[in-house]
Amino acid sequence: MIVEKIQINLLNLGILISGRGSNMESILRAIKKQKIPINPAVVISNNSDAIGLKIAQRLGVKTEIVESRGFTGSRLDYDKKIIQVLSRYGVTEKNGLVCLAGFMRIISPEFIRKYKNRMLNIHPAILPSFPGLHAQRRAVEYGTRYSGCTVHFVDEGVDTGPIILQAIVKVKDNDTEGTLSKRILAKEHVIYPQAVKLFAEGKIKITGRKTAIKSRGR
Ligand code: GAR
Repeated sequence: MIVEKIQINLLNLGILISGRGSNMESILRAIKKQKIPINPAVVISNNSDAIGLKIAQRLGVKTEIVESRGFTGSRLDYDKKIIQVLSRYGVTEKNGLVCLAGFMRIISPEFIRKYKNRMLNIHPAILPSFPGLHAQRRAVEYGTRYSGCTVHFVDEGVDTGPIILQAIVKVKDNDTEGTLSKRILAKEHVIYPQAVKLFAEGKIKITGRKTAIKSRGR
């Protein structure tokens, strides 16, 4: 009898954070609980004080700091350092997924191109409304009735990449930036792990700027 050895090469996940890391935590917990077929290889922060670093360590995930405060090189020089760390953990353009999870830095086009269709971001608004900073505050000030969050692939624009999942949150008359952000965040913690799962299972097909979710995997 020939016994075939099946080698499953798991994707390696790198998560980039700057602070609280609650989206990172929701992804890491979902990987364990929902058995998402991806290896949480490394969490990288640009800020050594990020609370999320401790959370990742408690969850048994390796962490790295690439401090951006006081960094005097170019944006590309900085990003090359991040890419080096990602590569060291096997998060490559062939076998990796990079999740931006509250990573508050602009990323160079070179970094984005290297991980084309392999880099995700979560944004606290229903894109294409309110891209960029302070999305929740701007939604409240504008008076929209609905807001929410979006998981999308990262391209070279500001929050313009192909959309994977969105979740809607109703805006209340008495909402403040804080109250709306809290309800949106709860939805972020649901859809970001879902998107990672879809990616890991090979269920996201990208055509132009549109994505389709396949019911079967690769
Ligand atoms: C989240 O609300 C995320 O959507 C937002 O930062 C927060 C990070 O929280 N990201 C952006 O605004 C990106 N433009 P977390 O560190 O607890 O995940």
